[in-house]
Amino acid sequence: GPETTILGIETSCDETAASVVLRRPDGTGDILSSVVFSQLEEHAAYGGVVPEIAARAHVSVLDSLVAAALSDAGRTLDDMDAIAATSGPGLIGGLMVGLMTAKALAQVTGKPLYAVNHLEGHALTARLTDNLDFPYLLLLVSGGHTQIALVRGVDEYERWGTTIDDALGEAFDKTAKLLGLPYPGGPAVEKAAGGGDPKRFRLPVPLKGTPDPDFSFSGLKTAVRQLAEAQAPVSDQTICDICASFQRAVCLSLADRLDIAFSRFSERFPATADRALVIAGGVAANKALRSTLAEAAEKHGFRLVAPPLELCTDNAAMIAWAAAERRAAGIEGDPLDTAPRSRWP
Ligand code: KG4
Ligand code: ZN
Repeated sequence: GPETTILGIETSCDETAASVVLRRPDGTGDILSSVVFSQLEEHAAYGGVVPEIAARAHVSVLDSLVAAALSDAGRTLDDMDAIAATSGPGLIGGLMVGLMTAKALAQVTGKPLYAVNHLEGHALTARLTDNLDFPYLLLLVSGGHTQIALVRGVDEYERWGTTIDDALGEAFDKTAKLLGLPYPGGPAVEKAAGGGDPKRFRLPVPLKGTPDPDFSFSGLKTAVRQLAEAQAPVSDQTICDICASFQRAVCLSLADRLDIAFSRFSERFPATADRALVIAGGVAANKALRSTLAEAAEKHGFRLVAPPLELCTDNAAMIAWAAAERRAAGIEGDPLDTAPRSRWP
């Protein structure tokens, strides 16, 4: 097929984003523009994302972000081959804002609409940044999701493991809150952990030894709470030691869960020479986690593919790219009456 240029919109959580992405017939692509407005400040006072505030913030900035994405790319709406927006999973108010905007643009331009699954966006990003071939393993670790999936092809995903309670980013955020550290908790916990002794406290490694690569983090969070209570009043050093111990338990759990996935992949695809683990989601920023994953991957003959951080966290380039990949796979688009889905595996 020909080269395609797609406008993408992302509004599923607390980032409003728009992007123009180009995909060539050979499967390579370029991000022509990518603008992200983070609502962190709007939500910080509440210690978490407030859905109603998020939806209103999307409404107030999305039009100008779309205009900025087009002008940064040096393109007009007429140059687009399709309009894409995240259609789920996520906060329903925000999804409605983004999808409705995309439908309006598709309607007035006569271009096809792509209602994209946010998780598919995360799953396919590495093919844009690293021109990766199928199949590969995906570890998605964000504030809302924690999954290990097999990416077999466009529209061909198998979820091998997921969290049975909290998402990993959520566990970092809750741990930070318990210890009086600021929101978002992930970076704060990582920073404190850097000055701590990871072996001072022995925290449980969740689900260790279970046969499927699922995750659980709520027990770990409870253990942190009990530890903080037992150590009260907690000194700054103790906070650092707790953070380091927490981060260590998380890393041990991820390595243990990934061992299962690596073995499963190798059994299923013995002939695949280029074995890759792709990481996505905001927690992929964590350096301790990255080095744990790199080590675990190497042990099993996999390479770790980590897209640049701004493409691991929520953005619209991944949505435009997923639509471009769907289009290249012969998927024509979605009807204009497609409804957003807050839950969409
Ligand atoms: O993917 P993301 O930007 O947004 C969504 O969840 O959709 O991920 C945000 C999550 C937050 O929970 C944040 O605390 C966590 O990623 N995070 C981190 C780090 N940076 C961000 N967790 C651990 N270590 C970090 N350095
Ligand atoms: Zn995400």
